[in-house]
Amino acid sequence: MDSEVLKSGFLEKYGPGPVQGFFAPGRVNLIGEHTDYNGGFVFPCALSFGNYCLIRRTDRPSVRFFSMNMKFEAEVSVEDLDKPVGKEWVNYPIGVFAQFLKKGIKFERGADLLFYGDVPAGAGLSSSAALEVVTAVAVNTVFGAGLPEIELVKMAQKAEHEFAGVMCGIMDQFASAMGRKDHAVYLNCDTLEYELVPLKLDGVKLVIGNTNSPHKLDSGKYNERVRECRAAVAALQPYKVISQLADISVEEFGRLSDHIQDSTVMRRARHVVSEIERTREAVALLKTGNIEAFGKLMNESHASLRDDYEVTGPELDAMVDAAQQTEGVLGSRMTGGGFGGCTVSLVKDWAVNDFTGRVGADYKAKTGLIPEFYIAETSDGGRRIF
Ligand code: GLA
Repeated sequence: MDSEVLKSGFLEKYGPGPVQGFFAPGRVNLIGEHTDYNGGFVFPCALSFGNYCLIRRTDRPSVRFFSMNMKFEAEVSVEDLDKPVGKEWVNYPIGVFAQFLKKGIKFERGADLLFYGDVPAGAGLSSSAALEVVTAVAVNTVFGAGLPEIELVKMAQKAEHEFAGVMCGIMDQFASAMGRKDHAVYLNCDTLEYELVPLKLDGVKLVIGNTNSPHKLDSGKYNERVRECRAAVAALQPYKVISQLADISVEEFGRLSDHIQDSTVMRRARHVVSEIERTREAVALLKTGNIEAFGKLMNESHASLRDDYEVTGPELDAMVDAAQQTEGVLGSRMTGGGFGGCTVSLVKDWAVNDFTGRVGADYKAKTGLIPEFYIAETSDGGRRIF
């Protein structure tokens, strides 16, 4: 999005004066799904689309929020920044202000904020994390709070927990803040140690397919999976000292899984334990340039999310099936929380046109929905842009 257009939008809305601009990206996760809240590995990259926030401090005792395209507008007294206002998108930025308050950072006077988002909403590409992270970086800068980036990431995640009711892991906010152009973030969600791995995809494109079947903003199913994973940990604890599913290897799980009486809970855990291992292997393969083998693990990841974790659904499955049957496709899977949203595929350069045509037609025939495709471009994490 052009900075000048955003600036004139801001000046028109709030009047003349200085203004600073910030950006935080959405993300696409390559592999390592539903592992973050289990202390496992994830491997997302930050995208070139995301959320913009223009901001100016004011002398008013309130904060004004306005979005140019996400249909929200609110004015909240500095006293009330710890309370959600109904069930609206504006709660993401308000939820971030609330986290600053919790850290003891007081807002005596307010600010004017204008947002513009170009992540397709509800597509599982972390439009909400981008909104949270951009707010956190902007507020941290203009109010001189001086909090380290990693604190901002955790505050953004808490905003999602407390103001949107989604008990998400840390992947999305971390990728949105810490991602780098042409790299994917290999993150250990337990220790928060991470490595930026160059995305060496010679002759191959990352294609995102939007099923246009939106996933729910605060999906009860997501929190249900979080609870099922905790139930699996509790069932295994008498047999091994663990505090999360990442503490158990694939081999140990094979030996101990019979102790999980509930077969649904057992399958949820099997997905998580195997997905953590796949993520480890996939990153090692990418580092050696073995993109073919990386793609196979993506296919396995999807099968596990479909059969054991049950977060795919007919639309994602239809798109992934069509992709996996198309020539020149090295791997394809759902990405993000699931229950609708997007797929990600590794597609040879020469096959990209054919891919969007065929997969699009096949998908439409099966579901009646018209999909969209984007060639993923990566970008740097949350930052000031002017
Ligand atoms: C959502 C959550 C993340 C992560 C993914 C699944 O995007 O916000 O924390 O759990 O789902 O991998």
